[in-house]
Amino acid sequence: MRIQRIAPPVQTATHQEVDLNLIKEIVAKYKEKKGALIALLQEVQSVYTYLPKSAMEYLEATLHYPVSELYAVATFYAQFKLAPAGKHSVKVCKGTACHVQNANEVMSEISAFLGVKDGETTPDGKFTLESVSCLGCCSLAPAIMIGEDTYGKLNGNLAVQVVKKIE
Ligand code: FES
Repeated sequence: MRIQRIAPPVQTATHQEVDLNLIKEIVAKYKEKKGALIALLQEVQSVYTYLPKSAMEYLEATLHYPVSELYAVATFYAQFKLAPAGKHSVKVCKGTACHVQNANEVMSEISAFLGVKDGETTPDGKFTLESVSCLGCCSLAPAIMIGEDTYGKLNGNLAVQVVKKIE
């Protein structure tokens, strides 16, 4: 089963094309808001889909957070990514409803097909595989989400067929 969702606009960037102008407004907003480091990093990540090295250095230069502190926070919380995400995000639900419906098989089959582990991106940059705790459609367990589309009532083989159809 497939559920279509409306995708919010997302700006993507690679290591080569980090435009720091995109976060100038965010930096200005956080100039007077010391102690809001997590919110700051969340906003920066929402621009690039990850936390580019040059953006971290820019935050250090403009907001005077030591870069070591920025990386300490960014590596502590799983929500932050230090490398660009793949073109397609493949989220495999590992929540309770999906777990009891064999989400582990779904994850291991997709992982074997893509040749990457949970949290990794394929070498061609096409897919990033990650486990999530609940996609909010437990009645369709086990479920996965690719981009903004959700697929449910899967098994390992069906899940791989879904991934194979993604351009
Ligand atoms: S537990 Fe998987 S969608 Fe809720």
